[in-house]
Amino acid sequence: MEQYAIKGGNPLVGEVEIGGAKNAALPILAASVMTDETVYIENMPDVRDTNVLLCAMENIGVIVKRTDRHKVTLNASNISELVVEDENIKKIRASYYLIGALLGKYKHAEVALPGGCDIGCRAIDQHIKGFRALGADVKIEHGLIKTQAEHLRGSHIYMDVVSVGATINIMMAAVMAEGTTIIENSAKEPHVVDLANFLNSMGANIKGAGTDVIRIVGVEKLHKTEYSIIPDQIEAGTFMLAAIASKGDVVIHNCIPEHLDCLTAKILEMGGEVEESGDSIHVWCNSRPNKTNIKTSPYPGFPTDLQPQAGVVLAVADGTSIINESIWESRFQYTTELNNMGANITAQGKTAVFEGVDCLLGAPVYASDLRAGAALIIAGIIASGETQLFNLDHIDRGYENIEEKFRNLGANIKRVKE
Ligand code: EPZ
Repeated sequence: MEQYAIKGGNPLVGEVEIGGAKNAALPILAASVMTDETVYIENMPDVRDTNVLLCAMENIGVIVKRTDRHKVTLNASNISELVVEDENIKKIRASYYLIGALLGKYKHAEVALPGGCDIGCRAIDQHIKGFRALGADVKIEHGLIKTQAEHLRGSHIYMDVVSVGATINIMMAAVMAEGTTIIENSAKEPHVVDLANFLNSMGANIKGAGTDVIRIVGVEKLHKTEYSIIPDQIEAGTFMLAAIASKGDVVIHNCIPEHLDCLTAKILEMGGEVEESGDSIHVWCNSRPNKTNIKTSPYPGFPTDLQPQAGVVLAVADGTSIINESIWESRFQYTTELNNMGANITAQGKTAVFEGVDCLLGAPVYASDLRAGAALIIAGIIASGETQLFNLDHIDRGYENIEEKFRNLGANIKRVKE
């Protein structure tokens, strides 16, 4: 078992390069099975979730070739299995993207029920509702979601909740359905748009991605493509918040500033400074951050995946702040760890009250999920003394080389064997 040993106290100063978006890469990799031709993907993050998915895809017969660490070609012309149930795939959420992709192309898929971070109830009723509306039979049996259809037919689907995963899955299942599908109340996240752009580059006919009504006209087949995944909005946001928390000065390269508008607005409220230039964001803060209130909501609202990292800033802000988490009911587990570092946070249900303290003190802490892990790295970097951070496997799911990136900004962080 490994842990991070972090000696806190250094402000973060310097430049950092953002990688490809994990949450765009996962559906894009899955959607690559929808053509028999070879697909070439660039800017793919080398993180555990994408690697597990690639491995599962190889196990059903997809030929995967890594041309370098961030480039991959995939050929799915010889898929031998429509049942995906290896042990590792059960641990990741994105396994369910293979349902939409395989169902869309082969009209049949059986995929292990998804795992993923322990952040709250992770329902899939909207996915199932969408598949059924397109004409598929859906059953859950022996830990597998089994879907099958004679024909998939376009349909008008109104989503009861805004769901990234369900929007993506229905989009994939509908791409080769007969006729037109309309998804209303769809998710608008940048990775939903990236998947639509990827599918369109393969010959799909999807319009409206990025708005709350997506219109898909079914096509007969999809063809090869070359595609570069968008930069990771959440990784960029994590470094923006780390810069503010540490009263540092960081330039973040290879990001799309527009995807971070909501965070930029909050950072300005916190007393930080932000300057955007092309695909870079310069973030700095010279004084103790101000208190502010945050409510998470679907894009373009404040992302739940940046809530714990923002919580670290508020833990040391001047005054009392409130965070309302409206997406995941168990996403305040990190506040217990921050309290063990001297923070004063009361979390109950979907609300947490942060009484800002002057400083955090290093302590042994445990990552309960991916973004909680990122938050606790930031906490260790700003705390006085030494922090040991455990459960690194959560962090490895979604951040590539995170310790090296923080070290290059001046943090004293090492990965060591327990
Ligand atoms: C995606 O999860 C992300 N994961 C999550 O990021 C992110 O937190 C989440 O979107 C919200 O932005 C991936 O992209 C792999 P949802 P997803 O379906 O698709 C409810 C990270 O840290 N819901 O948008 O699973 C659900 O319970 C991860 O990278 C239903 O009720 O999230 C939740 O309250 C963690 N029925 C809300 O909708 C459904 O059928 C949003 O979930 C589906 C969802």
